[in-house]
Amino acid sequence: MIKPLFWEKDRLFIVDQTLLPTIYQRIEIHNHLEMADAIKRLAIRGAPAIGIAAAAGLVVGLKPYIHCSSPEFLSKLYEIAEILNRTRPTAVNLSWALKRMKRVAESEKHKPASEIWERLLHEAVNIHTEDINMCRQISQNGQNIIPEKANLLTHCNTGGLATGGLGTALGIIITAHQTGKNIHVYVDETRPLLQGARLTAWELTEEHVPFTLISDNMAAYIMATRKIDAVILGADRIAANGDTANKIGTYGLAVLANYHKVPFYVAAPTSTIDPNIASGDQIVIEERGGGEVREVFGKPIAPGNCPAVSPAFDVTPNHLISGIITEKGIFRHPYRF
Ligand code: MRU
Repeated sequence: MIKPLFWEKDRLFIVDQTLLPTIYQRIEIHNHLEMADAIKRLAIRGAPAIGIAAAAGLVVGLKPYIHCSSPEFLSKLYEIAEILNRTRPTAVNLSWALKRMKRVAESEKHKPASEIWERLLHEAVNIHTEDINMCRQISQNGQNIIPEKANLLTHCNTGGLATGGLGTALGIIITAHQTGKNIHVYVDETRPLLQGARLTAWELTEEHVPFTLISDNMAAYIMATRKIDAVILGADRIAANGDTANKIGTYGLAVLANYHKVPFYVAAPTSTIDPNIASGDQIVIEERGGGEVREVFGKPIAPGNCPAVSPAFDVTPNHLISGIITEKGIFRHPYRF
């Protein structure tokens, strides 16, 4: 399993996911600006992974300031955290991890900056380790909804590349396969950036899980003509009422699943739940620009500057979701976390 982010002694690396599956390239991250750029251009992506990345980016960004006074160190921390927080607006794990890092620093503010920094490094590693454990628990909890023989459908990428560990929805699928269930998965390619085709298909190949790649517009036909036992996918932000933001196309799949009476499950750590947002209409949806739709891998597939939009996520209303699988168990409608 490839780790999206790792430390080698005190050096921080990420794997550039924009190049996968054809090229495996690790990049050393020297400071917060390099991490902010990596998050923005999706070199590291997936809600849990960008939370882990933001915490680690804050640590490397603060390294040059460990000899400053503690108040100076803290004010630099706020500045860097803000830069990282502005990279992507939808996945709450990003701001969740940064808030957690700020709280730790504030609780240690009377100590020398070098000690605060050590504590922050420790916390960034904790956030990563906890995510590994949450993935493991989500993968276990999800087994309750996967029959012994199952034909599943998933969207985007929710595996090891998108998290600190085994993955969320994909962790459930891979665990089902590894524990002897007879699993087959339809994988949506996930336009415009093809996380399904490039990343999920690649991870399932590595794990020897039987799957079939489909383009996004085939999902209705597949649900109508083959028996799909469940749709299972991830989340970027879950409002207090269970409305769920996830990769663009998720809402359409939920409507289709509802029409075809296919159970529709979301899998996510509780760090993806935003208790401060009452419902999905308050979730900010990242707009990435029409270029992503007019081009594939930098090659034009549409006339010049023809109008195009690229909302990166959509919101699925809670009543279309059969269950939300977290490390704390499976929540069902009406959602109370
Ligand atoms: O734009 P991305 O690739 O960061 O979007 C990722 C998704 O939408 C995932 O489904 C979600 O973050 C869950 S990852 C476990």
